[in-house]
Amino acid sequence: MFGIGHMNHHAYATASAAAAAAVCGGVTPCGSGRGRRALSSFTLLFSRCSNNYNNNTNCINNENKKNTSINDAAATQVRSPDLVALEYADLHLPHKIGEVGHVRIRQHVNPLSASLSVPAEVPNWNQVFRDSTLPLMVDIGSGNGRFLVWLAKRSPETKNYLGLEIRHKLVERAQFWVKELALGNIYFMFANATVSFEQLVSTYPGPLAFVSILCPDPHFKKRHHKRRVVQKHLVDSVLKHLRPGGQVFIQSDVLDVALDMRNQFDARADILQHIDDVDQGECVNLCDAEGWLLSNPMGIRTEREIHAEFEGARIYRRMYQKR
Ligand SMILES: C[S@@+](CC[C@H](N)C(=O)[O-])C[C@H]1O[C@@H](n2cnc3c(N)ncnc32)[C@H](O)[C@@H]1O
Repeated sequence: MFGIGHMNHHAYATASAAAAAAVCGGVTPCGSGRGRRALSSFTLLFSRCSNNYNNNTNCINNENKKNTSINDAAATQVRSPDLVALEYADLHLPHKIGEVGHVRIRQHVNPLSASLSVPAEVPNWNQVFRDSTLPLMVDIGSGNGRFLVWLAKRSPETKNYLGLEIRHKLVERAQFWVKELALGNIYFMFANATVSFEQLVSTYPGPLAFVSILCPDPHFKKRHHKRRVVQKHLVDSVLKHLRPGGQVFIQSDVLDVALDMRNQFDARADILQHIDDVDQGECVNLCDAEGWLLSNPMGIRTEREIHAEFEGARIYRRMYQKR
């Protein structure tokens, strides 16, 4: 068993409700010291639920009544959207932006529905990026988009960033932020990645350097697994277009989803090498005995990751490199 305290359906829904309340924010093991210090009191306060992976299933499922007063107190002091706000505070994103400021979203959409099966129109890459020859990172299922905006702002001259997201309103709001921050190296597209990834990356003028698939919608029921974003033809496309040395980063707070993705990428060991020692500047990330990366190597956690860790979930991560 890989398993320590993975999320069940109920716990996932709880964290998702917090995510839907979207504000902005957070800190990672590789994040700024300032943020980490700011979070330390929260971490102490919530150590029962946030840091004890071994006990988290009990924590979430069995101790609810016993912990009511603790949770009530916690709820009045901090919520996971506040942690998101803190983690992404440096972006200074406007909180309310008129029509698209408060985005209420349904839990999951069905990517197999007819309306979402239409391939996205390929944009004019020279219009969406300042320099369309730069290496490209694609984030599949970019959600609210803060994670990718944060990366793009940090590397304005060296990489382009493309977020693919199936919820229109999230794309609209993320693009609003891109314009507000006047970033010329990031673009969010309304696209069903399973349908459009191949055509989009094959028309991009520069090399495909990095693909991330972070906390994809779990579609728990077995009969709905075909709705999951990582399907064989998507994996084939990623491997086909990734440049040699390019990387794939996957993670999920749902063990079954993480294993599903992992099995599909591990199966291509002829092309992809699993990296268990990711050295990205200031932090070296090692794996546990099961081959899961112990921490996030990106320098910042995704929003879903923040909500899930706040609920006590463990994040299962793998990083691969094309041979
Ligand atoms: C649980 S959220 C995670 C968002 C973000 N990656 C994070 O970690 O915070 C999954 C996102 O993937 C999007 N999504 C699901 N299926 C998709 C598909 N086929 N193509 C593009 N986006 C998809 C959903 O709309 C949702 O915003």
